[in-house]
Amino acid sequence: MRTARTKAELRELLAEPRRRGEAIGLVPTMGALHGGHLSLIRAARAACDVVVMTVFVNPTQFRPGEDLGSYPRDETRDADLAANEGVDALFAPSVGEMYPDDFATAVEVAGLTEVLCGDPEQRGPEHFRGVTTVVAKLLNIVRPDVAYFGQKDAQQAIVLRRMVRDLDFGVRIEVVPTVREPDGLAMSTRNSYLTEDERGRAAALHRALAAAEDAASSGRPLEAALDAARAELRRAGVEPEYLEARDAEDLAPARDLNGRPVLVALAARVGRARLIDNTVIGTETEVSG
Ligand code: PAJ
Repeated sequence: MRTARTKAELRELLAEPRRRGEAIGLVPTMGALHGGHLSLIRAARAACDVVVMTVFVNPTQFRPGEDLGSYPRDETRDADLAANEGVDALFAPSVGEMYPDDFATAVEVAGLTEVLCGDPEQRGPEHFRGVTTVVAKLLNIVRPDVAYFGQKDAQQAIVLRRMVRDLDFGVRIEVVPTVREPDGLAMSTRNSYLTEDERGRAAALHRALAAAEDAASSGRPLEAALDAARAELRRAGVEPEYLEARDAEDLAPARDLNGRPVLVALAARVGRARLIDNTVIGTETEVSG
């Protein structure tokens, strides 16, 4: 595996495979790799000739007061894990390489970024503006054929799909199912913030979504499915920041299960950690996770 710190180094690394017409897969991450990230790498490895992983803790997607300063960073471990999974090129730029002092541009996807995590009471649309701007840059730097994202961050994937479509990036977006711990908790870098007691309670997020899936698949209405999820959270003493049902494609509020896939998305603070999870219900073939 080769590591590039600058855009120029990365372009040089990719020049030859690109000339040969090899398929390039991109896996953008903020590092602190876990099983979720590894599953994205495996999907890329299985489908592409060249796999590029980026590790960049993107400051513009953190709110003031969020965990930018304490976000776990361990590049040596990340590089070992990536190399083991067969990543060909690791791009780990500095903040200055990505955002020179006179950086002045932002990419913004309206509408989709103002709900759920983009609600001003939550992380706000600025969070997604940070994500879309950095991913637009990474797509332009790497120019991949396919880019891989996780269903764990369902709204992020929906927003990025729209950006890629609206701005004609000409890249295929693949969304990989959520990877979970044995008790169902979605793997996340922020799980490392949980104490033992909080870690136990955090499993309620998945139980809540599973309760919603069960209710929906036994034919109960959407509102009953959401109630079942709320009851599961209450039992564990977990107060949701939001628990909402939305159209899985355009995030419009969903009022019933009418055959279209419905995204049930959940955010909750458990101790220091703000956790999110989701499931898609209301279709024959349920994607659980
Ligand atoms: P990060 O949180 O490091 O996540 C990188 C990718 O891994 C994202 O696409 C995310 O959805 C996926 N992922 C995280 N946990 C997962 C899990 N349990 N199962 C499957 N996939 C999982 O998301 C970001 O970084 C950033 O916003 C980024 C896109 C890199 C832009 O800065």
